[in-house]
Amino acid sequence: MNANFKFKLLFILSFLLGLTRADPELLQDYCIADTMGQHSFFMNGNSCLDPDLASSDHFATSALSKSGNTSMNQFGFSVILTTSQNLPGYRTQGLTMARVDIAPDGLVPPHAHPRASEVTTCLKGDILVGFVDTSNKMYTQRLRPGESFVFPKGLIHFLYNVDQKSPALAISGLSSENPGTQVASLATFKSQPFIPDTVLEKAFSIDGQEVARIRNHLQG
Ligand SMILES: *[C@@H]1O[C@H](CO)[C@@H](O)[C@H](O)[C@H]1NC(C)=O
Repeated sequence: MNANFKFKLLFILSFLLGLTRADPELLQDYCIADTMGQHSFFMNGNSCLDPDLASSDHFATSALSKSGNTSMNQFGFSVILTTSQNLPGYRTQGLTMARVDIAPDGLVPPHAHPRASEVTTCLKGDILVGFVDTSNKMYTQRLRPGESFVFPKGLIHFLYNVDQKSPALAISGLSSENPGTQVASLATFKSQPFIPDTVLEKAFSIDGQEVARIRNHLQG
C-alpha cells in the first residue's frame, strides 16, 4: 500500500465511522417535542416544550396498543413507531419503539436501519427472524412469545410469520431517535430515479425482462 492510498483509506473509514455514530449525548434531562408550536425553546435545533409545562403524559403513549393494518403493503406487515406526535417525551433520548404486526405468512422484508441496533421481542405467534453480517454469514432464530433477538446496527434483517393461520406480534426497541429504514428490494429496484437496468442486470446476473418483471411485481 502506498502512502496516498493509506491516507484515502483512513479518510473513507473515518467518514463511514462518523456516519454510524450513536445519537449525541444529552445536554438536558429531556426535550419534549413542542407539537403545538407554543412556549418552545430550541436545543440543538430541536424545538422543546418549556419544562414548566411538562407533564407525565408527555412520556406516555398508547400508540402501540392497537394493531396496525397489515394489508397496507404486499408483504403483509405493519410497523407503528413512536414519534414526536404520539410520544413527545421520547425526543433526544436516543431510542425509538416499534409495534410490528405480521399477517399469517406475512413478511417484514430484508431491510436495514443505518443508525440503530434493534432488539425485538415476540409477543404473539411464531416468527422466523434473521440477519446477515458483513461476511454474509446468516444468523437466524424462531421466536415464540417472550423470546427476543438482537439485530446489530446497520445489518440487513427480516421477520417472517411462519404461522399460515394466525397473525404475529412483536415489539422492538431501536437505539436511535431516527433509526432510518432501507428495504433492500425497494432501494434496489424501486429507487427514484431507477438504478440503470444495466447495473442491475450485471449485479444480479439477470436480463432486462427480469429487471422489469421484478419492478412490476414490487409495490412501493
Ligand atoms: C387496511 O388497508 C386496506 C388496503 O389499503 C384497506 O382496503 C382496508 O380497508 C384497511 N382496513 C382497515 C381496518 O383500515
